[in-house]
Amino acid sequence: MDKAIVVNFGSQYAHLIARRLRELGLYAELISPGIEGIDKDTRLIVFSGGPSSVYEEGAPSIDKSIMDLGIPILGICYGHQLIASMLGGSVKRGKGEYGPTIVHVDTSEPVFRGWNEAEVTWMSHGDYVAEVPAGFKVIAKSESGYVAAMRSMDGRIYSFQFHPEVSHTQKGKLLLDNLVNILVGKHEVWRPENTIEKTINEVRQQAINGKVLVAVSGGIDSTVTAVLVSKAVGERAVLVLVDHGLFREGEVEDVMKTYKEVGLNVRLIDASSTFLSRLSGEADCERRRKIIGETFAEVFEGLIRSDPSIKWIAQGTLYPDVIESGAVKGSDVIKSHHNVGGLPKWFNIGLIEPLRSLYKDEVRRLAESLGLPDKIINRHPFPGPGLAVRIIGKFSTDKLMILRRATAILEDELSKAGLMNYWQALAVIGDDKWVGVKGDKRAVGYIITIRIVSSDDGMTADWMPLDPKLLTRISTRITSEVPNVSMVTYSISSKPPATIEPC
Ligand code: XMP
Repeated sequence: MDKAIVVNFGSQYAHLIARRLRELGLYAELISPGIEGIDKDTRLIVFSGGPSSVYEEGAPSIDKSIMDLGIPILGICYGHQLIASMLGGSVKRGKGEYGPTIVHVDTSEPVFRGWNEAEVTWMSHGDYVAEVPAGFKVIAKSESGYVAAMRSMDGRIYSFQFHPEVSHTQKGKLLLDNLVNILVGKHEVWRPENTIEKTINEVRQQAINGKVLVAVSGGIDSTVTAVLVSKAVGERAVLVLVDHGLFREGEVEDVMKTYKEVGLNVRLIDASSTFLSRLSGEADCERRRKIIGETFAEVFEGLIRSDPSIKWIAQGTLYPDVIESGAVKGSDVIKSHHNVGGLPKWFNIGLIEPLRSLYKDEVRRLAESLGLPDKIINRHPFPGPGLAVRIIGKFSTDKLMILRRATAILEDELSKAGLMNYWQALAVIGDDKWVGVKGDKRAVGYIITIRIVSSDDGMTADWMPLDPKLLTRISTRITSEVPNVSMVTYSISSKPPATIEPC
């Protein structure tokens, strides 16, 4: 399959580059700095951004021979500076450009087809290209006069100081489309839904014998995994929903009902008391994730012990999790979420991950093709460790109960208001208390923080402004209907800097 290789120099946006290219029909994969993975199918190499400075000792780089492979190269941010420094230009510390930045472009350049002379882009850099390499032409400058884009005279290398992959670059997608046309031209077209048959066959070949355990959660990833595995191995698929006690109000019943409707035979295992007693008193969220991962593994182990014909476990691991678990050099692990690594090392069973090369939006396309209902396809994401990652400070069932009720009220009000176009809406509880007054009496209660964000993929997110009347309804209901809550606050931080979940 024709593909682009994105060399990840540690950018939080490296996945976005790959996703955008895939959206344009060019399959893309991420690699750590190196040439592994670059092969005859590689039609484009992208150097991503990254937090380093090219002139620093130990800054990530790549063998110069990559320039001589004859494959077109696109550099973004750090990648732009790296190309400049590798080819004899120079990079210096500047005054920095962060956030929306106007650039002036040479509109006669085909790469800027559809762009006006001045456009808003997204920048995030302290260094700048002070001198472009010989044989390069400056094709855009920022308002501060920095080189915003350059290309080689032969048209094989393009690089940009700004991030075309980020939606804040208003015509970024158009630019990437132009780049693919110019640098790659005609290529095999990637469509995730075309991989369904191949994936089913691969699962069938991998799990030649033995049963395959699939733990579902009601979410799209585990559900699509369950459908693919069921199609591949039929009756040999063992579908279970483990209730860890951290689901939202009524969620387990709803999800079980939906599974029945779509013809998936899922067994419910109630392990909530084990999970909750182990979590009780644990203040460290990362440790809670570990406890939850290990307890899941124990439940699975119990199932395997009682049915030794289970030889495999299938998980809905997605591509970003696969890459993140490989910890790209230079990038920071923000949270140890997701499936990879969720199972402890002592857990010894064959792993099947049919979605491991896909992004979330691509899984949605698979789900549509597989005929899954809208309530699964468009379900808002909910983290595997459930409400456990929305409790700041010590975990207690008291706080969990309050949080569950507050979440139900929040979701109810949003649904009554017909508000659906958010990525996630969460309620969060901590240990801080606010003095309240209820019926003329002093009543000290918890603070519930409401956070509603819009996002394309969860990697970046914006807090959503909400109608004050709706906010008032949510706040009034939570403080009056949930015991021990005296204050509701609304979170107004985007990601970055704040992650979506509080911990
Ligand atoms: P953050 O909080 O890192 O979240 O901005 C990004 C997205 O990931 C989800 N999330 C998790 N999902 N296990 C999961 O399965 C986890 O431990 C976890 N932590 C965060 C979060 O809900 C958001 O959609």
